[in-house]
Amino acid sequence: MSDQRPVWMNGNMVPWENATAPLLSHGMSRGSTIFEVFGIHPGPDGPLAFRMDKHLDRLCHTAECLGMELAYTKEEFIEAVSKTVRANNISRGLVKMIAYWSDEPIISLVLDSKLDTAIFAVPAGEGLSLDSTEPVTACFSKWYKLHPLTMPTTAKACAYYLNGMLARKSAMERGYDIGILRHTDGFVAEGSIESVFMVKDGILRTSPLGKILSSITRMSIIEAASAAGIEVSQALISQEELLNADEIFTCHTGTKVLPIKKFEDRDLPAPGPYTAQIAKIMNDILSLENDQFKHWFQSL
Ligand SMILES: Cc1ncc(COP(=O)(O)O)c(C=O)c1O
Repeated sequence: MSDQRPVWMNGNMVPWENATAPLLSHGMSRGSTIFEVFGIHPGPDGPLAFRMDKHLDRLCHTAECLGMELAYTKEEFIEAVSKTVRANNISRGLVKMIAYWSDEPIISLVLDSKLDTAIFAVPAGEGLSLDSTEPVTACFSKWYKLHPLTMPTTAKACAYYLNGMLARKSAMERGYDIGILRHTDGFVAEGSIESVFMVKDGILRTSPLGKILSSITRMSIIEAASAAGIEVSQALISQEELLNADEIFTCHTGTKVLPIKKFEDRDLPAPGPYTAQIAKIMNDILSLENDQFKHWFQSL
């Protein structure tokens, strides 16, 4: 089955082309689908998942704060991920889990059925470039982050990515690679699909949780940098502070530490010394050369 890129769908392995949902499904026509993405890394005895427990916790959090019910337990999801990764023979790549309503209610808005689930395992390579460290440019997006009184913005829901898409597009229209969203009060929030870190006077700073996605990479960088003796602050960051940063980098599951070489009209060292140190720490962790954080990996 491996040449068919098997997908786990509600307990069955199906070929990629059969892993579909109706156009009029609630997930598609109302945009209610939720998801998770996490990394698969080669280990000495087979594939390893990076912090899968935290990603599954976040999936449960997303479902809960949107009033949705998942159809499987965490243990069942772990088993399903393992089966999918092994069936696809992946060593470095990503797992994407989506939970969605395939029901086709024409006008009903609120459903109470349990969510369907599909799990995809995608190898790194052509079509999925991971681990890039090539510095990029960034600017403030003209679009602001959804306000937490409009949606529970800590959920990882597909619909929110229209906000992220517009932010990225508005940055690209100005000739930048990445757009950084601000909260409606002007403080720095996050990127479209990435968290933001800055360094000022030797302190590593990132926006506090509560109104942004609880990024697993952000959490890992904070833990690893703190363990290496770097001072970390999670206090609010004003626009002016980001504009005057000594170093800036972004992070997400597919790209652990991505240096920003220009923010608005300022050139920045990329990577600056702290960014380079943190990139090395994360690299060592991901290549299993750092024993302190081996428990972040789960054998599949
Ligand atoms: C809005 C947003 N912020 C941050 C991140 C980084 O999260 P993680 O480190 O869990 O990939 C993502 C990842 O998709 C995201 O979509």
